[in-house]
Amino acid sequence: MSRRILVTSALPYANGHIHLGHLVEYLQTDMWVRFQKLRGNRCVYICADDTHGTAIMIRARQEGRPEAELIADMRDAHLRDFTAFGIEFDNYGSTNSESTRQWCHRVWKSLREAGLIVEKDVTQLYDPEAQTFLADRFVKGTCPKCQSPDQYGDSCDKCGCTYSPAELINPKSTLSGATPEIRTAAHLFVALEQKHAFLNEWSQSGKHLQSEVANYLKGHFLGEELRDWDISRPAPYFGFEIPDSPGNYWYVWFDAPIGYIGSTADWCERVGENVEEIWSAQPEVNWEIHHFIGKDITYFHTLFWPAMLQTAGLRLPEKVHIHGFLTVDGEKMSKSKGTFVMASTYAKHLDPAYLRYYYASKLGSRLDDLDLNLDEFITKVNSDLVGKVVNLASRTAKFVQGTGLSAQYPDDGGLFAQAASEAEAIANDYENCDFSAAMRRIMAIADRANRYIEDNAPWTLKKDPAQATRLQDVCTVGLNLFRQIAVYLAPVLPKLAEQTGRLLNAPIDNWNHSQQPLIGTAVAAFEHMLKRVEPTQVQAMIDEGKQDAPTSEAAPAALPADSGKYLEQEPLTAEHCTIDDFVKVDLRVARVLACQEVKESNKLLQLTLSLGGDQTRNVFAGIKGVYKPEDLVGQLVIMCANLAPRKMKFGLSEGMVLAAGAGGQEIFVLRADDGAQPGMRVH
Ligand code: 2FM
Ligand code: ZN
Repeated sequence: MSRRILVTSALPYANGHIHLGHLVEYLQTDMWVRFQKLRGNRCVYICADDTHGTAIMIRARQEGRPEAELIADMRDAHLRDFTAFGIEFDNYGSTNSESTRQWCHRVWKSLREAGLIVEKDVTQLYDPEAQTFLADRFVKGTCPKCQSPDQYGDSCDKCGCTYSPAELINPKSTLSGATPEIRTAAHLFVALEQKHAFLNEWSQSGKHLQSEVANYLKGHFLGEELRDWDISRPAPYFGFEIPDSPGNYWYVWFDAPIGYIGSTADWCERVGENVEEIWSAQPEVNWEIHHFIGKDITYFHTLFWPAMLQTAGLRLPEKVHIHGFLTVDGEKMSKSKGTFVMASTYAKHLDPAYLRYYYASKLGSRLDDLDLNLDEFITKVNSDLVGKVVNLASRTAKFVQGTGLSAQYPDDGGLFAQAASEAEAIANDYENCDFSAAMRRIMAIADRANRYIEDNAPWTLKKDPAQATRLQDVCTVGLNLFRQIAVYLAPVLPKLAEQTGRLLNAPIDNWNHSQQPLIGTAVAAFEHMLKRVEPTQVQAMIDEGKQDAPTSEAAPAALPADSGKYLEQEPLTAEHCTIDDFVKVDLRVARVLACQEVKESNKLLQLTLSLGGDQTRNVFAGIKGVYKPEDLVGQLVIMCANLAPRKMKFGLSEGMVLAAGAGGQEIFVLRADDGAQPGMRVH
């Protein structure tokens, strides 16, 4: 029975245009969806614009027009870009829709009924001129620690310390330049800790998350009490007003994921499907939900979102597929280098098919960043797509345009059968999002096919009328191998699949077309398929990239402008750390002077550590129940001494004690041998 799969990509913010960094995700998702459809599964690709929040409100104000107009324009621009890159949604909605509002009400009611909503006062900076509370990113001032000027309200670029915006020296609103006031307002929070056991089980089941993501959650969040999540904002705020809390609005990250459901509901309405079947937790109905996201928004999709869904009795994601960021020539996209390229700029200079293939050839199933190396881009496209794939057709089709394909499939030495037998392995690679492995297998098939063509030289056979049958046979083999490759590449290169369908009078719409050769069918005139990339085109794009101003977005990897207090947690980092990164970590031997249980926490011990002399540190460690406090006192442990201090519910944690093991009861605190002295550096 075919699967029923609902797939989403992260909803792009309506305050900025789509750039090459965003496209990693939308192209990856589109390829995965096309693959599922080609396999005969019922697959629905849902997306929408993420329209709410302070950034949009401010931008609309600056442009002197209503938010609705701004988001309508941005939606058109987004859809234009997606269409240019062959990204085909089954529904593209908006979080500012009636359907999303209704679903927000439903989820909210469940959270209330489950007793998960608590009210607390939040003191924030307020811009008296712009008349709005200021998210941390909208305040700049001097770092309270190192005195560097021009630092954002949450952390210092220069010394890396984190603080609250109220601690900034001489703070200024970036909206109006006014000096902000401190004001207190009541906010509503989700008491996430109540969902701790469920989140542990769901995230660590090994089924729904990549293993590095599961470990990251365990190491950064689940090892300690989960903090309450602030999900309301006082007026003025562009969003939905909270029904039972007039004057307060849902924070953008509350309604954004609910936009997945709202957009699904709109699709259902249009095509006559039942949204309840898809989103209600009915195990007997076989819908799978797959989210594709970037690693910067991991905790929204792997903590808050599953907690909300589960509380509301809704279907949990089968899988959250998380990818890394884009770098260009090994560096962060940069406007001054012209590598911060907008999708529309790329499409002006280069064929989107090139990027689809290049990204596929680089995308694995892990969270590594993807590097767009511009020289490699040119070489790969020219040698793989033009040199190996399209050439198969361009060197054979013209010789059989009059005769069509041979009536019987000729002896090809087993090439077609060999490539057919790889269908499942390639399908597995696609299924697991290991696109680069799939591309390698497909290119190996293309290499064998090219050797066959060269060995049998149809251009020479053509010169000898006595070889007409052999010529037809050789071209029949060449074109069938080409078609097989076009089937395997169809999720990545849908246009090439269409062109192949026209050339051989047999549309490609099923993966199984890779299993049977075509025989006795007509061959149409060869139409041009893909041109070589010229380095001058790439240069022209980069030159224009220097003019592209990223609106409201500092960089693709930048955190959303107002993402809430959870951003105090580090975002999921890349797999590798360089030597330069490593030497920044200041590991020291420390003596445990005192240790006690934190009464209100299930997990935490509070340690007082000595680093020699009169230097002591207060550290909270998630090892309660594994170690008795008295067993640790007097021990020499290893600590990270330059970790940015972190405010926790029970006090400030000023470092981290190193331990090995998978967590739970399996935790082994690392110790130094007797003889080592507190304060000694660990190398
Ligand atoms: O990070 C972002 O760009 C967000 N607009 C993604 C939202 S995804 C979902 F939750 F809606
Ligand atoms: Zn600083």
